[in-house]
Amino acid sequence: MSVAAPSRKKPSRSQQIANVALYPLDWLEERSGLVGGVRYFLFRKVPRDTSWFHTLGSATLTAFLVQAITGVVLAFYYKPDPESAYESVQFITNDLTLGWLVRGMHKWGASVFIILMFFHMARVFLFGAYKYPRELNWIIGVLLLALGMLEGFTGYLLPWDQTAYWATVVGINLNGTAPVLGPFLAQFLSGGAEIGQDTLSKFYALHMLAIPGAIFALIGLHLYLVIRLGVTSPPWSEEAAGRHRGEARDSGRGRRGLVRPGGRGSANGD
Ligand code: HEM
Repeated sequence: MSVAAPSRKKPSRSQQIANVALYPLDWLEERSGLVGGVRYFLFRKVPRDTSWFHTLGSATLTAFLVQAITGVVLAFYYKPDPESAYESVQFITNDLTLGWLVRGMHKWGASVFIILMFFHMARVFLFGAYKYPRELNWIIGVLLLALGMLEGFTGYLLPWDQTAYWATVVGINLNGTAPVLGPFLAQFLSGGAEIGQDTLSKFYALHMLAIPGAIFALIGLHLYLVIRLGVTSPPWSEEAAGRHRGEARDSGRGRRGLVRPGGRGSANGD
């Protein structure tokens, strides 16, 4: 008696299209696990009373990315030398297609970035989110704040106009008055007896390479810790007080810190 071969059902047309569309993602996932990582990042659990206040960190991140992108476009045309810096900025503003927009976004965006950083820091402070186990993330935040302001200071000189020049003279002299390290810092920043080519090159390198690189690295660390530890509930929330609406107290299941923050010395985050 012959046995009929099992019939292989042909996938439907929509299934075939989905397979083709998903092939690159499957390819990447199989070789790197990146897709799973991104999915975990996007769909991780957060406290149920997460609010608009919690968007301030992402808003700060967006402002920084806008600065990074517009900065790269400006660098295509900016000339970091005292003879041509001012003219190159004038060219960007007055002659380059949409140059005024890119420069305006970069200039005003710098203030937006700093203001958002302060708002985000205020949220973290008022929610007590700097406490155990997030002290390290607060310290990284403080470094980000310092680097953000240093980015503003070094960028201010680049247009090489009167305001830029004299504001930098004041800034460097102020640094020079700091105890012990002040004079060395002032000497390092000005790069010579007076503000000139060496100062501009140094500020440009700091503004374009060193400081943004450090900020990118610290943001990576900052976000890693946010994902690892989870975000803090508002102080007025039931979760922060250790109570869950309509639920028995924490069953103890699940990874501590991802769903809700844990307090010092508590076994399961209560
Ligand atoms: C480039 C600047 C910064 C970026 C892009 C950034 C980004 C973020 C993001 C996306 C989050 C998670 C969502 C949220 O809580 O809003 C976060 C959380 C946090 N940030 Fe920042 N941040 C920056 C600066 C700062 C500063 C200046 C501080 C404090 C000095 C700080 C301290 C913290 C802390 C402690 C958390 C954890 C909050 C929690 O658990 O609820 N960050 N940050």
